Amino acid sequence: MNRTLVICKPDAVERGLVGAIVGRLERKGLRVVAAELRVIDPDVAEHHYAEHRERPFFDSLVKFISRSPALVMVVEGPDDTWRIVRNLMGATSPADAAPGTIRGDLATETTENLVHGSDGPESATREIALFFPGLR
Ligand code: RTP
Ligand code: MG
Repeated sequence: MNRTLVICKPDAVERGLVGAIVGRLERKGLRVVAAELRVIDPDVAEHHYAEHRERPFFDSLVKFISRSPALVMVVEGPDDTWRIVRNLMGATSPADAAPGTIRGDLATETTENLVHGSDGPESATREIALFFPGLR
């Protein structure tokens, strides 16, 4: 089995779409093994998105992801679970996200694109340790 980090971002919680998003992951066959509704600390958000530190959208991204509660969770499935989740999410820009995906069906904006998923096995390991340091 294999785990990845998923975040229903503040826009998802504000719009009442958490159930729809978690339902899509569960219907696919993935299992939620840890979850917490929390306001993500800006320092943690900066670590989480450290790869984007030099990008022009970094400050607004950190502000957005920490503005109100997000549902942070660990999802478990077979090999390459991170890739299954990324395919369910759709492309980063909702304008490019295919119909049938979370972003393709439910979002219109690039920053407020509802969901985060780790982009590889190393990211998954790093992000799970950042958000759920005690998880076994
Ligand atoms: P995420 O990390 O949140 O799962 O999203 P992602 O892999 O699909 O996209 P990534 O390139 O990692 O970008 C992280 C988040 O930054 C915001 N973003 N804004 N304004 C822009 O050009 C821009 N580009 C990216 C999005 O919220 C994106 O999800
Ligand atoms: Mg990313």
